[in-house]
Amino acid sequence: MKTYHVITFGCQMNERDSETIAGMLEELGYSYAEDPGSADAVVLNTCSVRENADNRFFGVLGRLKNSHESRPGMMVCVCGCMMQQQRIIDSIKAKYSWVDLVFGTHNLADFPRLFKNAYEEKKHIIDVLSEAGPIAEGLPSKRAYDFKAYVSIMQGCNNFCSYCIVPYTRGRERSRRPEAIIEEVRELAASGCKEIMVLGQNVNSYGRARSVEGTYNAKTDEPHLDFAGLMRELDKIDGIERIRFMTSHPKDISDELIECFRDPRHICRQIHLPVQSGSSRVLKEMNRVYTREQYLEIVKKLRAVCPDIAISTDIIVGFPGETEEDFRETLSLVEEVRYDSAFTFIYSVRQGTPAAERKDQVPEDVKHERFNRLLDAMHRIQEEKAEKYRDAVLPVLVEGFSKTDDTMLTGHTESGRVVDFPGNPSLIGKMVNVRITRPQTFSLYGALAE
Ligand code: 5AD
Ligand code: SF4
Repeated sequence: MKTYHVITFGCQMNERDSETIAGMLEELGYSYAEDPGSADAVVLNTCSVRENADNRFFGVLGRLKNSHESRPGMMVCVCGCMMQQQRIIDSIKAKYSWVDLVFGTHNLADFPRLFKNAYEEKKHIIDVLSEAGPIAEGLPSKRAYDFKAYVSIMQGCNNFCSYCIVPYTRGRERSRRPEAIIEEVRELAASGCKEIMVLGQNVNSYGRARSVEGTYNAKTDEPHLDFAGLMRELDKIDGIERIRFMTSHPKDISDELIECFRDPRHICRQIHLPVQSGSSRVLKEMNRVYTREQYLEIVKKLRAVCPDIAISTDIIVGFPGETEEDFRETLSLVEEVRYDSAFTFIYSVRQGTPAAERKDQVPEDVKHERFNRLLDAMHRIQEEKAEKYRDAVLPVLVEGFSKTDDTMLTGHTESGRVVDFPGNPSLIGKMVNVRITRPQTFSLYGALAE
């Protein structure tokens, strides 16, 4: 039997797309192989959000060349956000012309046909569309886990934050019809799935834009469900014990969504709310469309409705023109919100975005110095916040073996903290209670509670 391997770079949306690619390959008769070098088909699903993702992709692709040369019939395919940029296509044509198939984010549904074509005709195919069509429903998928699943509710982004490449690579915002989403979650529940992560670049604007004919619009189409309405419907589905969602753009968060955190059935008391910067001046230049004060007001409202809600964020340091004073405002915002966790990024120039054109780029050493100060603050806060879990008994969905010690099991709390504890592997996929004995900055350690 022929085998495949999919290598995924970047965000959860890409991981979800890779599950679709894996499902398609299985329908074509391929089975999963652990080692990409010995697989008959390898697909690299790429990310463009920062430069180091680009570099990692070219490194991995380069290393596949030898296997490809020595194993006739091996298919190497590349897809995802990087392929939506002409300069990347040009460099693949110039330096990696041995790649069998290149496709983009807008023709994923066409992958089986393109793959068969390239394989049977022994052709090198490059097929990338510049515009998105409606969302394809009913595609196969090979999910990474049985007990937790990603559910993508929309694609694309209309926000054009001035640093970000995503609106150019993923196209305009399109929402799936609610019936299709609800049906998918019901099927997941019926097959034993316990946790879902609802995905979109900006879930708070679900159903608002109709950039592409044939996609859902909550104003004109029945049932009239905005994001909060959709979440309430998903919360009714029995069997799903935890519902999370990401990413929430602060400018589009509604009071109705905040209300969803008041005594939720299954919605986790946890929200990812990227702030990007604590300086209103920088936020304006980033085209984020909210101020520091408005962001803090949202945090206040969330905590008024749900005092123990865990809040995580994304922060960029070294955006063009960021001064020491601007950066201090980011630090002071971090101290004020006291995030449970944060993804911190050094600003990376993305060709084609407005911020890349700016002449006032922050020097590398200044960016790194600020980045380290931000990490120090974040780690201190995370460590302090971990302490409050000492001796607490917390429900944990057991997800597998610990990354650092494979004699231990690992899972997440409702708030999204990693918990490691000794236990029988038969518990994987189950919800258990763990008493926290040793809280640390990045993981809580504990033991099964009676
Ligand atoms: N440089 C650094 N970080 C970026 N992000 C998006 N674009 C860039 C960039 N050019 C970050 C943002 C976003 C997260 C997914 O990636 O913080 O929320
Ligand atoms: Fe990028 Fe902003 Fe869209 Fe997020 S909301 S994908 S940061 S443009």
